[in-house]
Amino acid sequence: MSTQAPVRRITVPQIRARKGGEPIVSLTSYHAHTAAIVDRYADFILVGDSLGMVMHGMESTVGVPLDLMVMHGRAVVRGTKRALVVVDMPFGTYEESPAMAFRNAAHIMKETQCGAVKLEGGARMGETIRFLTERGIPVMAHIGLTPQSSHVMGGFKTQGRDEETWPLHEEDARVVAEAGAFAVVLEGMVEPLAARITGQVAIPTIGIGASAACDGQILVLEDMLGLNPNRPPKFVKVYGQLGAMIEEAVKAYAEEVRSRAFPGEDQVYR
Ligand code: KIV
Repeated sequence: MSTQAPVRRITVPQIRARKGGEPIVSLTSYHAHTAAIVDRYADFILVGDSLGMVMHGMESTVGVPLDLMVMHGRAVVRGTKRALVVVDMPFGTYEESPAMAFRNAAHIMKETQCGAVKLEGGARMGETIRFLTERGIPVMAHIGLTPQSSHVMGGFKTQGRDEETWPLHEEDARVVAEAGAFAVVLEGMVEPLAARITGQVAIPTIGIGASAACDGQILVLEDMLGLNPNRPPKFVKVYGQLGAMIEEAVKAYAEEVRSRAFPGEDQVYR
């Protein structure tokens, strides 16, 4: 009989309770096998809508459909057992009304078995966040640089360079926290603003390009693995060069096939 204790997934309240404590580790993942590796080290895994660009070659996250999030969300939940899995709500699936957001968030949670959803937007999403959390859907908020609004923002611009804009971002953070979000992603934000917000809200802040002042950090996995065909944003530290390794392996294989060195004796059924 096995005496091993079952592995329990990290819960939303456990992430929430890490405010001001040990930094929260998180990465994106879209794929069962890479998620299984990330699962051993991360507190939560985000199935981000950046998968539109990273996995499917789209120009932005705006075109990502709900079904794609569900498909990748299922793969990540299947591949993991420890980390909390959070799935992004894609553009156009939650902004229109709280009821629409509930229908689509419930669909994501039922179909993927993930533990929470994430949506972009600050004060304007307060009512929706409250509607979802009061009905059993844990929500991670996302403020600062919000890629789904890049057309309105005029591109991917660091937020808070102008100190006069700080009150708006601070208000966004206050509203999403008071509405019931259990954590908030701060993306592309200058350090003093990220530090102020982290000091002001009672929920953990998760930084991406928002400095070490945050309660945790997230990166897009492919960016930190050197697998982004485009130059990753300046704030990304590249921990591995998998793009170069894949290229070397594929090139070696192609050369061996062309020179008839592959398949060799060991690779042939007799
Ligand atoms: O979609 C995504 O990968 C994200 C992260 C950048 C936080 O939202």
